[in-house]
Amino acid sequence: MKRLGCKLVQQKVEEELKIKTDSFIAKGNRAPSLAVILVGNDGASMTYVSNKQKACERLGFMHFDYRFSEDAKEDEVLALIDELNVREDVDGILVQLPLPGHIDERKIINAIAPEKDVDGFSPVNVGSLCLGQPCYVPCTPKGIMEIFRYYSIETVGKKAVVIGRSNIVGKPMAMLLMQKGVDATVTVCNTKTGNIKDYTMDADIVIVATGRPGTIDSSYVKNDAVIIDVGVNRISDPSREKGFYLSGDADYDSFRETECSVTPVPGGVGLMTVMMLMENTYEAALRRAK
Ligand code: GUN
Repeated sequence: MKRLGCKLVQQKVEEELKIKTDSFIAKGNRAPSLAVILVGNDGASMTYVSNKQKACERLGFMHFDYRFSEDAKEDEVLALIDELNVREDVDGILVQLPLPGHIDERKIINAIAPEKDVDGFSPVNVGSLCLGQPCYVPCTPKGIMEIFRYYSIETVGKKAVVIGRSNIVGKPMAMLLMQKGVDATVTVCNTKTGNIKDYTMDADIVIVATGRPGTIDSSYVKNDAVIIDVGVNRISDPSREKGFYLSGDADYDSFRETECSVTPVPGGVGLMTVMMLMENTYEAALRRAK
């Protein structure tokens, strides 16, 4: 097995972005800035938000942090977004998902000004991605493309299977893979796909983003497939300091005796997601400065 660790990929992107940011600021621009909104106390979301804030600090970005309680009203969040949309000192706005059940996620995402939507979740950005026009590309799929570039993983003419059709990962991933120049032949599986193996056995690249550990193992793929594991699942384990450990959606250990290339969890795709958010925020700052 080849381990597609992402620490070095992340560091390379971060170093390049730091140089660009320093030069942008040296020209008299203010530092890129990101507003981060978190609603509720979900442990994983709090960790993600904290990682995003730390990345901002390493790069010299400004960040504005907003916390709402679990029972916050939809209107309160919408009012904040309205304010951030017009603030001159805010380049990017990120609302951490998932939101509590009583808040309409679509309504919140649709309220973010497309030019500040650094997650690339708003209809204007999703439509532009679909049409192959310039836009903010959602961070996880964008990070996966960066992994392909770093490890020289060919996509042209390859068979790619995306397992999971979420708006955050599956759908935009499929869009990127089928774009001109990337040129993969793409199949997207969902929870109603009868036998996932019917599709993965023939795949050169499998991207697994279901949020379910053990979705695939080595018996699902060819001996030399590329496996990109997007899952970050917390598995309860009282013997660990935090009370859990992290597992991907793929059974990593099952690939050890194969020729497959596999991203680990942790240390894989998640590292890229944060850095791509920083890239999108830098891009937003550039656009505003023009
Ligand atoms: N929740 C899981 N992934 C993401 C992401 O990329 N962006 C936001 N805003 N929330 C998420």
